[in-house]
Amino acid sequence: MSATLFPQHVIARKRDGHALTPDEIAAFVRGATDGSWADYQLSAMLMAIFLRGMTPPETALFTEAMMRSGFVADLSNVKRPKADKHSTGGVGDKVSLHLAPMVAACGVAVPMISGRGLGHTGGTLDKLESIPGFRVDLTFAEYRAQVEKIGLALIGQTVELAPADKKLYALRDVTSTVECIPLICGSILSKKLAEGIDTLVLDVKFGRGAFMPDRARAVELASALVSVATALGKPARAVLTAMDQPLGRAVGNALEVAESIDCLKGRGPADTMEVTFALGEQMLLLAKVAATKADARHQLEASLTSGAALQKFRELIAAQGGDARVVDEPSRLPQAKFTGPLAAPRAGFVQDVNALAVAHAALRLGAGRTKAEDKIDHAVGVSALAKIGERVAAGAPLCLIHTSSKQALAEAQTMLAQAIVVGETTVAAPPLIDQILG
Ligand code: URA
Repeated sequence: MSATLFPQHVIARKRDGHALTPDEIAAFVRGATDGSWADYQLSAMLMAIFLRGMTPPETALFTEAMMRSGFVADLSNVKRPKADKHSTGGVGDKVSLHLAPMVAACGVAVPMISGRGLGHTGGTLDKLESIPGFRVDLTFAEYRAQVEKIGLALIGQTVELAPADKKLYALRDVTSTVECIPLICGSILSKKLAEGIDTLVLDVKFGRGAFMPDRARAVELASALVSVATALGKPARAVLTAMDQPLGRAVGNALEVAESIDCLKGRGPADTMEVTFALGEQMLLLAKVAATKADARHQLEASLTSGAALQKFRELIAAQGGDARVVDEPSRLPQAKFTGPLAAPRAGFVQDVNALAVAHAALRLGAGRTKAEDKIDHAVGVSALAKIGERVAAGAPLCLIHTSSKQALAEAQTMLAQAIVVGETTVAAPPLIDQILG
């Protein structure tokens, strides 16, 4: 290592507000990967980046170095265009489960490597694992062969993608350096671009139930994600979506799988389908299998009406060892021991359904984790959730709570009674799709 690349020198350059050179960025990411930088040096560097920022070219170099710190998939065996979607996370966001087979049914391969839920947002892997037998731990060879054969795989990380991110994310978590756009870009994109995709569509959420609640910051993040992915040769677009109330009417793993199956059968909730079509249209446009938005929409709708997307979901489940009969008999999904409604306290209109508060109630029921090692209960959660603007009669159910214990039911009822506000006057839900960038 040359003298100028001692960690303390690189840290000082960023501390003093300079743009780092490619060699300096490489040294930092290598230091995180091979342990040659101590945790205190990595942490100091993270704080320097947090305070001083990174230019767009630095962010792109950082992202690429992070991606190359681990396994980068080669899917050249797959002849179809390869597209993926990433969501920054929300409450009731089950869109990947039905969007991936819809897009695959339109001729675009979807090789999706997802994560588990932590905190108030759910994870695609946890939802899929509520399907009896479903394996998310395919080997890379199985993943590659499956994407070639059926154009679709939804798996967890079985090879080490972006190990530098694993190290840096753990340090960011304990040094108050998570909320930093260049670091978030490097973290999200290093893992997604290592999947072997050609194009990427991002669902960047804002609002109470989102990772980045502030809309202006979410726009900044979306624009940085699109620029960096594009600079790295992967055309990308971001759809900015509101996450103030939960998406759809179900929150909880098996309940969300059942709702996704409804979406594939053409009877999904309007808000969930609005986000699904918005993302799917951009995926088909970027993959160049649709010439216009209207054409993309038409193909996606046809995948539902023809049953092709539902059949693709059956194929996916069977290919990954799951019981595909859940598609026709959702009662084969895990069922909670107890169910109980939350009654509307008065007649009127639903004025608010606080996504974050609903997520906390679902966590209390056992649908999510507060620590990575927590076990989750796939059956529990909330279904038939009322939506903002709906009229309700006094005593009518505002949602149905699914639980494994009567005590949890009572606690969730109390929490949800505060999350869902019924008032005298009607209100309109704010627009769901804010804008599309890229
Ligand atoms: N998700 C990630 O994977 N990384 C971040 O930094 C933030 C959200």
